[in-house]
Amino acid sequence: MDNNYLNDLINETQSRGGGLLLNFNEKPAVVVLTVEKYNELLQKPDVVFKQQMVLGDMAEQVSEKGKILVTGGAGYIGSHLVRQLLEHGYEVVILDNLSTGKKENIPAGASFIEGDLKDVNLLRDIFAAHRISAVVHMAASIEVEESVREPEKYFENNVGNTEKLLVAMNEAGVKKIIFSSTAAVYGEQEKMPITENSPARPNNPYGYTKLLAEKAIKYYTKYAGLKAIIFRYFNACGCDFDGSIIPTHESHLIPIVLEVAKGIRPHLQVYGGDYKTFDGTCIRDYVHVLDIAKAHVAALEKIDGMDNFNIINIGTGRGSSVKEVINAASEVLNKIIPMEIGARRAGDSVITVADNTKLKQILGYELKHSDLETIIKTSWNQISNKVSAALS
Ligand SMILES: NC(=O)c1ccc[n+]([C@@H]2O[C@H](COP(=O)([O-])OP(=O)(O)OC[C@H]3O[C@@H](n4cnc5c(N)ncnc54)[C@H](O)[C@@H]3O)[C@@H](O)[C@H]2O)c1
Repeated sequence: MDNNYLNDLINETQSRGGGLLLNFNEKPAVVVLTVEKYNELLQKPDVVFKQQMVLGDMAEQVSEKGKILVTGGAGYIGSHLVRQLLEHGYEVVILDNLSTGKKENIPAGASFIEGDLKDVNLLRDIFAAHRISAVVHMAASIEVEESVREPEKYFENNVGNTEKLLVAMNEAGVKKIIFSSTAAVYGEQEKMPITENSPARPNNPYGYTKLLAEKAIKYYTKYAGLKAIIFRYFNACGCDFDGSIIPTHESHLIPIVLEVAKGIRPHLQVYGGDYKTFDGTCIRDYVHVLDIAKAHVAALEKIDGMDNFNIINIGTGRGSSVKEVINAASEVLNKIIPMEIGARRAGDSVITVADNTKLKQILGYELKHSDLETIIKTSWNQISNKVSAALS
């Protein structure tokens, strides 16, 4: 804030007998008082000051917890995280281009900026206008199959745009980042469960570009004083308990299984039934999206005391085959789910199961919602809401 502006503010305040209403950064009104008026009001028993600040801090008043920029906050995982952050007292700014994200997923308490990460001037403006304490970087292109067909899109969005974000953060002096990475960086592994030290050998462009983004972040932690937590999520699934968040990727297994159960699709196509697993279908580690979101809140509370660069798996340590998921859904919902075994799909790993020791030991986070029954029931609520909305 420059001195002329401050002097004008003080003169204006005094000319109004000590009180002036202002709006800052689209926030509700702020009252500015002269010291005399402030002291006078303090004597009155019916006047309560909710929050106070000195003039120097007036450019922006941020909650004690801090203000978090969530890129991709209108997406499936991002919008669950945004709700958790708001519940825990954080302020939230979302940057999302709505390429897959949904405006309806953005809660009223968050500030939303519709725009693209590739726009570095927009990033600069955001950091200038908001006192951001940490960034959660979720925005990305995330479809394995599409990445095989259009790798250049994945290099640009997942690597190039992450680099732009890092440049803008560095210029603005924002020093903390939590990055959404993926089990896809591990690719095919002999040893299960997969630890963070297992060799990264992605077998598709999606995983490869996420690994490159991790490395760019690591560079900034070494040479630019950044602190980072890289979360490698395994298979995110489930939904908030009220089922209000709209999923963004209809290609994921559990929503498809439930759509078959609902009669929206005639049957389930299983990609490959001849893998070397106990029932021939691929095995994955399904983790509830609420556990992912809550682990981020735990991470924000701990990051200051952690090493500069941390990689942490978010998974359950338990694998479920495709057939097991279908059987569990059939049992929980008491419905028959017809399936057909089809050809294998390009880029799929056979078994992916996380070792989650670091999640528990470093962040002290214990999973609360990641049993198959809760996952199926919460997804079912969401799909039932969608069907009722379509019928009404
Ligand atoms: N869903 C999973 O199972 C899973 C597993 C591992 C990792 N992840 C990672 O978690 C993150 C979130 O995934 P999701 O499942 O919520 O996907 P999503 O597609 O729902 O969310 C991504 C969001 O980013 C936005 N976005 C994409 N490119 C952008 C750009 N250039 N500028 C601004 N906004 C942009 C999209 O509109 C969307 O809202 C991704 O980084 C993904 O790689 C997801």
